[in-house]
Amino acid sequence: MNPTSPSPRPAPSVARAPGKTILTGEHFAVLGAPAIAMAINLYSQVEARPTVHKHVDVEADIPLYATTIANRNLALSDARSLLAPLRLAAQTTLKDLHRISNGVNVNVECEIPIGAGLGSSASINVAIISAVSRSFGARLNKKQICKLAFTPENVLHGRSSGVDQATCSYGGIIQFTRPFNVKPVRIREPPKILVCDTGIHHSTKNLVGAVLRRSRKQKTNFQQYVSQVKQISHSAVKALETEDNTMLGTLMYENHELLKKVGVSHPMLNKLVDTARKAGALGAKLTGAGGGGCILALYEDSRSRTKIVKALKKQGGHPYNVSMDHNGVQSVSLR
Ligand code: PMV
Repeated sequence: MNPTSPSPRPAPSVARAPGKTILTGEHFAVLGAPAIAMAINLYSQVEARPTVHKHVDVEADIPLYATTIANRNLALSDARSLLAPLRLAAQTTLKDLHRISNGVNVNVECEIPIGAGLGSSASINVAIISAVSRSFGARLNKKQICKLAFTPENVLHGRSSGVDQATCSYGGIIQFTRPFNVKPVRIREPPKILVCDTGIHHSTKNLVGAVLRRSRKQKTNFQQYVSQVKQISHSAVKALETEDNTMLGTLMYENHELLKKVGVSHPMLNKLVDTARKAGALGAKLTGAGGGGCILALYEDSRSRTKIVKALKKQGGHPYNVSMDHNGVQSVSLR
């Protein structure tokens, strides 16, 4: 990959990238099915300051409280271990720019809860790659940023399909198929989605690894699941394009049942999905790796939203107010 227009003088640069939700196809995306994902208006922002030293230093202000309070199984050291892949994101970028003898200080601020299925690591990684490359005068396009993000994302997921970094880079709603096929989904109105956190946070790597092991043991079942998810994702694109929310909702419930079958749901996720359904959601499912984290619920109007939110809170869920991000990763001007 060759950087375009390298600048002679490294200078500080800031980039920000959205988080994401997966409308259909998580886990099966790793196995080759298409996933449909939407960028959301929770962001990470990264400042990169080139230095004269060779070091890559990363400081991160991320919502660690979410992991430490909500889940006793995920220790603070696990949350801190996020810093190693982030450093790797910066190092991979320097290597790509043939700048390995340079150093950079990277400062991360992230408002996306980690381990919640909302793409916190992908968002931070694409923002790091964008900020670091710009700080050395290179303007990587979204595809180049995504490709570099595979290196840290593969460390975090074990094997990453690429859907997370693609969504955080491109923004809007995309259809993503491995190894790297990104198609923006054209919509007039974003679907009315709410996100609700179980408060139980997970390790994406463990969950992805468990599904991959199961898929090797139960080949025939998984072939069937993958072809069902292909159908679900293709129909979801049609439903989004034609604003057929009843269809989209039905597909989300179907997708949740498949995710339950492959063992990545959690009793609290199932409880929140059922609660949303009973409160009138058109569709609901877990989003992201599962094992805790968040559900998505599709609602009809603000009245039904209020009803669903109230019911979810009563069951111990923490709803987030999110909407679609249109832009993906962007540079932010320094004041
Ligand atoms: O939970 P998250 O945000 O890390 O989502 C991971 C999505 C998976 O499909 C489970 C893995 C992948 O790389 O596609």
